[in-house]
Amino acid sequence: MSTNKSCCNNQEATDETSTELVSEQSCCGNIVEENNAITEKENENSCCSNQKEANNISSELENDQIRHAVRENYKKYALSSDGNESCCGSKADVSLQFGYSIEDLASIPAGANLGLGCGNPQAIADLKTGEVVVDLGSGGGFDCFLAAKQVGETGKVIGVDMTPEMISKARSNANKGNFTNVEFRLGEIENLPVANDVVDVIMSNCVINLSPNKGQVFKEAFRILKNDGRLAISDIVLTNNLPEHIRKDIAMYSGCISGASPINELEKLLENAGFVDIKIEPKDESREFIKDWAPGTKIEDYIISSTIQARKRV
Ligand SMILES: C[S@@+](CC[C@H](N)C(=O)[O-])C[C@H]1O[C@@H](n2cnc3c(N)ncnc32)[C@H](O)[C@@H]1O
Repeated sequence: MSTNKSCCNNQEATDETSTELVSEQSCCGNIVEENNAITEKENENSCCSNQKEANNISSELENDQIRHAVRENYKKYALSSDGNESCCGSKADVSLQFGYSIEDLASIPAGANLGLGCGNPQAIADLKTGEVVVDLGSGGGFDCFLAAKQVGETGKVIGVDMTPEMISKARSNANKGNFTNVEFRLGEIENLPVANDVVDVIMSNCVINLSPNKGQVFKEAFRILKNDGRLAISDIVLTNNLPEHIRKDIAMYSGCISGASPINELEKLLENAGFVDIKIEPKDESREFIKDWAPGTKIEDYIISSTIQARKRV
């Protein structure tokens, strides 16, 4: 996605969203920035257990502040017009760059494609008739509707998004398109509103970089997947340390830039969650559209769109 369509507009950090992402020191050791959220380093010192608990609470609050800013940003997109025009060309043009076909775009309800993705998870999902699919951060329902056609009436697609206005928009789109095998649920991807061991495929398009707790997202993904279930994700990853002013800018965070994590960190988090067959592949061609996300910052030298695949095997 582009940062608040920042390819044409200036970054609009409102007072509410301009919170700096700061790091602190505590009596129990360093509080370090991880995924741009404040988290506490492991420390066994028992004299600090109260402090540790307090730090955990403050880190949850910090994560909530981040989610609040992200939600406010995407609420604006959900409430914007259903037209096909984005700031720098049509949303269809951008989607064609990601590998969606003209037929794909013609087959979904108008207004479902908000031009907020950064890749094409359908291309790696290999969806089959009858499969159960969950889309993390489903936005206007774009990938859900395409997946619904692939899995057919015997399959099911569940979109999860934490922005109420996005969920309303996606439900209205489902209604317009008479989709009976798609459902949209309001919720956080760190706390998925889905039962254990029921999902064949988890897709996501440019969302996990926005989570202040990516380890928890992968744990939840693992929980809801059936044995042998798979991840098919397109997302932004970090290739170089970001300059501090970008790293601490919440508008850049909401714009899918400063929340990105390096590949080795994501691999570790996936492994810790229990996944196997982990494959993260950067897409060099994505620098072409990423450069327009924050003109003048050379942002394409720091982040790249990648596919993320993995499997649950127990
Ligand atoms: C960049 S948009 C991508 C939307 C959609 N996947 C697409 O390609 O059009 C990010 C979406 O993820 C949602 N989101 C961000 N963080 C989330 C979280 N922690 N839990 C649930 N939804 C989240 C936002 O509300 C927004 O709709």
